[in-house]
Amino acid sequence: MAKTWATSGLDLHLDLGPGPDGGRLGHRVRARLEAALRDAARTGRLAPGTRLPSSRALATDLGLARNTVAEAYAQLVAEGWLTARRGSGTAVADRAAVTGPAGDPAVPPPRPAAAPAGAPAGPGAAASGWTAAESARRPRYDLRPGSPDLSLFPRPGWLAAARRAINAAPSEALGYADPRGRPELRAALAGYLSRARGVQAHPDHIVICAGFTQALSLLSHVLRARGVTTLAVEACGQSSYREQARASGLDLALLPVDGAGAAVGQLPGSLAGAVLLTPAHQFPLGAALAPQRRTQAIGWAQDTGGVLIEDDYDGEFRYDRQPVGAMQALAPGQVVYAGSASKSLAPALRLGWLVLPAGLAGEVAAARAMADRQGSAFDQLTLAEFIGSGQYDRQVRRARLAYRRRRDRLVATLRQQAPRLRLTGIAAGLHALLELPPGSAEDDLVARAARRGLAVEGLGPYCAPGHPRGPALVLGYGTPAEHAFTGALARLCAVLAE
Ligand SMILES: Cc1ncc(COP(=O)(O)O)c(C=O)c1O
Repeated sequence: MAKTWATSGLDLHLDLGPGPDGGRLGHRVRARLEAALRDAARTGRLAPGTRLPSSRALATDLGLARNTVAEAYAQLVAEGWLTARRGSGTAVADRAAVTGPAGDPAVPPPRPAAAPAGAPAGPGAAASGWTAAESARRPRYDLRPGSPDLSLFPRPGWLAAARRAINAAPSEALGYADPRGRPELRAALAGYLSRARGVQAHPDHIVICAGFTQALSLLSHVLRARGVTTLAVEACGQSSYREQARASGLDLALLPVDGAGAAVGQLPGSLAGAVLLTPAHQFPLGAALAPQRRTQAIGWAQDTGGVLIEDDYDGEFRYDRQPVGAMQALAPGQVVYAGSASKSLAPALRLGWLVLPAGLAGEVAAARAMADRQGSAFDQLTLAEFIGSGQYDRQVRRARLAYRRRRDRLVATLRQQAPRLRLTGIAAGLHALLELPPGSAEDDLVARAARRGLAVEGLGPYCAPGHPRGPALVLGYGTPAEHAFTGALARLCAVLAE
């Protein structure tokens, strides 16, 4: 398999923007790359000391010639923004981050560096109705959405990180503390999210939560307490989230979803004070929110003063090209960015994070303190160490490669064995939508599969009443362990052929 951005080095979100000619060739693209890197270093989005991918890896990621990247690195080394040392690659120069608008001539360039040396280097639908009987009766094959391959969890690396982190932690870390979460983790996440997802994140405005599930619950309570009455949600999505918002006293406005994501043009004027979207990979239909709709949604939030909750649950897993950056950076004062370790590591960690507009951060922290005081410091310290040591990036890349291979196998197998069925939503994430012929009974297929030891889910339960879709299966190809994937695929094809 060709090595692409999805499988090389370190995740780095860089928006090169379209060129004046719409092209990506020649010195213009080099200039744009230099500007993007300079801007990231200048604003502190790339923290001093951050190691950059090798020129080869970044060139592959961005689809550029290696020389273009090498020349851009060399230029920025000469300007003092980056440092390059033989054997340790290229890094952001060690200096205080300077904030200011891009290209602000008042912002002084950094001191030139020392002589440049060497070459630059789900919950799933089941979550709401989980029963002991279901836990005991694990299916032989599982293609339900919502879970990563749990056997990919990096046990040795995690244990080593835990050992290092807990050894190094001050005694104070073992006590009652800031409900926003450990400062080490908030700082590590601010750096990672800024670098990999383009989020404008300040550690003070991050609140660590027990996954997105708790994050949504806290947010719903805070919004309700602020006087928000309605939360707009995608009409197809996790039903447990709809229930959660309702339980907090919010009314729901349902946005239809199509191939371009949620129909945000239907956001109800100033009535809805908040909207919850999955823009990077709509859950469960799989579309990315179209650029025009992203702009529309941001415009809505800015015009009405509404809050946009961006659920970026699997934003790291995009296979065909570099992930679209988070929407949050377009309006950090209106957008709440929500992330989770449930897909990248494991749901059992119960670690998620909110990057909040400054005004909301304190209220959400207070709500967390009311709910359960604070999360486990041990896991937070471990995740901070895991991110800081580069292992989180490596794990995401390893998992991305594994899931992309599976997605490719799923596509190839179904094309061969069920050529009349359409598989959509495959550009990203850990699940895809298999559209069944009109008139097929989704429930019957799910029941038949279960009798053959294969757990699958239909689209129906995800769709709010009045917004039926399908018939279709939501296939979680990330769920099975590697050794069970071939069997699960074969079982699926057998059931479809019946
Ligand atoms: C749409 C969506 N958002 C977020 C999550 C992550 O939830 P949590 O962090 O509570 O595990 C999931 C998990 O399946 C999901 O399907």
